[in-house]
Amino acid sequence: MSAPLRILHFGDVHLPPPPGTMASPAMIHPKRLPALLNFAARRGGNYRDGVEKLNALAGFLRTHPVDWILYSGDSVNFGLHGELLAAAPRISAVLAMARRGAVAVPGNHDLYTGPSVQDFARWFAFGNENDCPEAAVTPGGFPRVRLLSEEVVCVTMASALPHWAFWDSSGYVPAPELEALQRILDMPEVANRPYVLLLTHYPLDEAGFFHGLRNANEVAQILHGRKNLFLLNGHNHLPYLRFLPGTNLPVLCAGSLSKKGCESFLLYEPFGGTLNARRARYANAVWTLSPL
Ligand SMILES: [Fe+2]
Ligand SMILES: [Fe+2]
Repeated sequence: MSAPLRILHFGDVHLPPPPGTMASPAMIHPKRLPALLNFAARRGGNYRDGVEKLNALAGFLRTHPVDWILYSGDSVNFGLHGELLAAAPRISAVLAMARRGAVAVPGNHDLYTGPSVQDFARWFAFGNENDCPEAAVTPGGFPRVRLLSEEVVCVTMASALPHWAFWDSSGYVPAPELEALQRILDMPEVANRPYVLLLTHYPLDEAGFFHGLRNANEVAQILHGRKNLFLLNGHNHLPYLRFLPGTNLPVLCAGSLSKKGCESFLLYEPFGGTLNARRARYANAVWTLSPL
């Protein structure tokens, strides 16, 4: 019997802006100025060591190789040109360490404002392979399908979008993407696999108006009654395992790789019909696995 696939899931790195980046005129923006105050007072300190923690993840991968890496987005803070340009090679170098490949989705901090969307599309061209390109309907090419093995498939959805208001970090899955997702989940090469991993930035069980996925309930409706589904997300900065209400579908959040005091990523091993998940914790520049 072959060893179970090893799949590492991380995100919400929120790498600190490189020196000088925030001097950009693009900071004069109704969303970024209040965000800057919050960053200076509170947020920045929590994510200051993101580069070191990402480098330590690369060290972990050298000693604990994985087959696939899933990346659930939020690489930066303000979605600035200079931030995305600096973050892209750092994140892609880590994703390239997986033996077979990587799968990635953008977070709301990656697509912070309209221009961020173009920068992200230009530089974050990794983890974008699609085994079913004819099913994609969004300008960014979502949903995507990646056949991870004969048993495991990963389907990704775009759920983050730019907003003008600082207090609005909500997501939304547009109707055409939702319809495409439904068609993909019905495809025999997806539905017949014992593990269908559905990866997106927002948790599919949180419909909060300003921080959640606004149409989470609509998305959940097409998931009810399906088997073999595992819902994977980021956006929340603490890791967890819970279940989509009214179903036995697991909802797994990778947490934040870099948030001070609660750093985490998850390691999955599909086996026996379940996705065994362990959490990695960070201390003294080293990642160590522990129960979730
Ligand atoms: Fe985040
Ligand atoms: Fe987020």
